[in-house]
Amino acid sequence: MITVVTETPEDAPAIESLLDGAFGQRRHLKTAERLREGRRPADGLALVALDNGRLVGTIRLWHVEAGTVPALLLGPVAVHEDWRNRGIGAALVETSLKRAHAQGHTAVILVGDAPYYGRFDFRRDLMLDLTLPGPVELDRFLGLELAPGALTGARGAVRATGVSMPLAAATPLPDMDAADVGWADAGRPDVAWAGGDAVAAAAPY
Ligand SMILES: CC(C)(COP(=O)(O)OP(=O)(O)OC[C@H]1O[C@@H](n2cnc3c(N)ncnc32)[C@H](O)[C@@H]1OP(=O)(O)O)[C@@H](O)C(=O)NCCC(=O)NCCS
Repeated sequence: MITVVTETPEDAPAIESLLDGAFGQRRHLKTAERLREGRRPADGLALVALDNGRLVGTIRLWHVEAGTVPALLLGPVAVHEDWRNRGIGAALVETSLKRAHAQGHTAVILVGDAPYYGRFDFRRDLMLDLTLPGPVELDRFLGLELAPGALTGARGAVRATGVSMPLAAATPLPDMDAADVGWADAGRPDVAWAGGDAVAAAAPY
């Protein structure tokens, strides 16, 4: 049984190992990392995929401002290579987007492969007047409006706005404790698979 649940502080070492395996150490040099370093992910928007307790996927979203528009930066997202092509990546992206929408967020941006993120409706044309704090392949700089028109007029630099706090494995994060199971109570149950067959998260955000 694979489940998608909120990240806990205890997940940090396994997440770092998974990200090292997926991206290598050069991941720390990425321009998007300049918007994440020294910040905490957005509350309730750091998720992991577990296969009978083993961490096999991760996604984190971060508070940023896109010009003057409040937005979320999505990434990194990674799935352990032995668990790919089962819909886990899609479940992580879709669950995080639904949660973001439920929280009232209106726009999500990322740097990633357009052929992958296009399936979640991320678009290049929304980002034409925005810049990142470093070099980036422009066709990988994508945006998604969770509310129509949210990125209309977004112009200028993208900058980090999340809570400034190192995300250390030992740091207790108040929004990531057991109480976060409350998402299920709020009508947004964690995504689950039985028998390894992918079941896409049903509701659109
Ligand atoms: C990208 C990643 C998270 C997808 O996880 P996953 O659980 O395998 O994804 P899903 O099962 O939901 O989707 C698989 C589909 O995505 C496609 N896909 C995977 N990575 C892709 C990429 N970089 N570009 C285009 N398509 C991609 C697969 O070919 C497959 O296509 P299909 O549905 O037509 O067969 C995973 O491949 C991974 O961790 N890659 C290394 C890290 C990485 O590159 N992350 C960011 C991507 S920019």
